[in-house]
Order: sequence, then structure tokens, then C-alpha cells
Amino acid sequence: MNVIRHVARDDITGMRGILEHTSEFSSRDVECCLECLHECVGGVEPTYKFICAVEDDGLTGFACYDTDTLADGVFEVYWVVVAPHKRKNGVGRMLLESIESEAKKENARMIAIETESGPNYENARRLYEKCGFVSEAVLKDFYHKGEDKLIYVKRIG
Ligand SMILES: CC(C)(COP(=O)(O)OP(=O)(O)OC[C@H]1O[C@@H](n2cnc3c(N)ncnc32)[C@H](O)[C@@H]1OP(=O)(O)O)[C@@H](O)C(=O)NCCC(=O)NCCS
Repeated sequence: MNVIRHVARDDITGMRGILEHTSEFSSRDVECCLECLHECVGGVEPTYKFICAVEDDGLTGFACYDTDTLADGVFEVYWVVVAPHKRKNGVGRMLLESIESEAKKENARMIAIETESGPNYENARRLYEKCGFVSEAVLKDFYHKGEDKLIYVKRIG
């Protein structure tokens, strides 16, 4: 059974392992996520929050999120990743639900997630839609020609 908790320094190796096996991510994605992670676990005032899903045999996935300091009551999710062999078991949903429950505790109005329109992110889009997120904005050709940025939103208050 998975338990969701905040990450600690000891989790970095396991998280790096999950990232390295995430074929949907480019090396730039992996680098960017690791930078956020090092800042989070090593920083004096971390910019991002990381939670992870853990089973008896180790980490199964993780997510990174934060409140948007320029907006009133908005949580943003930056990364949700589940180890390939642990997918379709509800881990992604558990991670998003955990963020949602923290957002509700903090009286947030909405949770926003940006993603891409291409086939690499099909599982992600399906997960967001199954969890009640709606694609409210499309920036055509944002990443490159034919690859749009989608902004998914869940209004919670
Ligand atoms: C997106 C991702 C996090 C989903 O994780 P997951 O643990 O497989 O998701 P869950 O098992 O919680 O699935 C949630 C729902 O989506 C459905 N779902 C997920 N992947 C699916 C697939 N490939 N086909 C059909 N349904 C799928 C599940 O059936 C489930 O629905 P249900 O709860 O109503 O049964 C995972 O695929 C992943 O790590 N992808 C690569 C990284 C990525 O793209 N991250 C997002 C951008 S940062």
C-alpha cells in the first residue's frame, strides 16, 4: 500500500532513478526537475514542495507543487511522475489528491497544471481529466510547431 509523505534528502536517489526511467521526459526535463528537488531539500527557503508515494519496497512516484505567490489562492502542480512499473495503480491520483487536500486546507480556490498536447503526455492528460481537471487554455504551437501548451484547472473553492 502506498503512503504519501514529504520528501527527505534520502529520497533523492530513488527519485532520480524514477526520472531516469521516465521515457516521456527529455534530459532537460530531468535536469530541471532535479534542480527543483535539490533546491527543495537543501534550500533555506525552498521554492517548491515535493511529496512522494512510498511502498514497502521503496518510492513509487512523486509530485512537485507550490502556491502561486502572485495569485490569490492558487496552487500550481509542476511535476507528477510515477515509476513505469507502478503505473495504473492509482498512485498518480493519490499524489494529486494529496495536493488537493492541502490546497483545500489552505482555502485555495484552484489548482492549475500546465502540460503538453503531444503523445508523450497522453497519460498525464487522461489522469488530470479523470481527477476533475479541465483544460481551460491552449497556447497553440507553444513548445514548437504542432506542440501546444495546455493549462488544466480544477476549481475547488
Ligand atoms: C501521468 C502519470 C503520473 C499517471 O500515473 P498513474 O499512477 O499511472 O495514474 P493512476 O493510476 O492514478 O491513474 C489515474 C486514472 O487515470 C487512468 N489512467 C492512467 N493512465 C492510463 C492509461 N495509460 N490508459 C488508460 N487509463 C489511464 C487510470 O485508469 C485512473 O482512472 P481511475 O482512477 O478512474 O481508474 C504517469 O503515467 C507518468 O508518470 N507519466 C510520465 C510523467 C508525466 O507525463 N507526468 C506528467 C507531467 S509532469
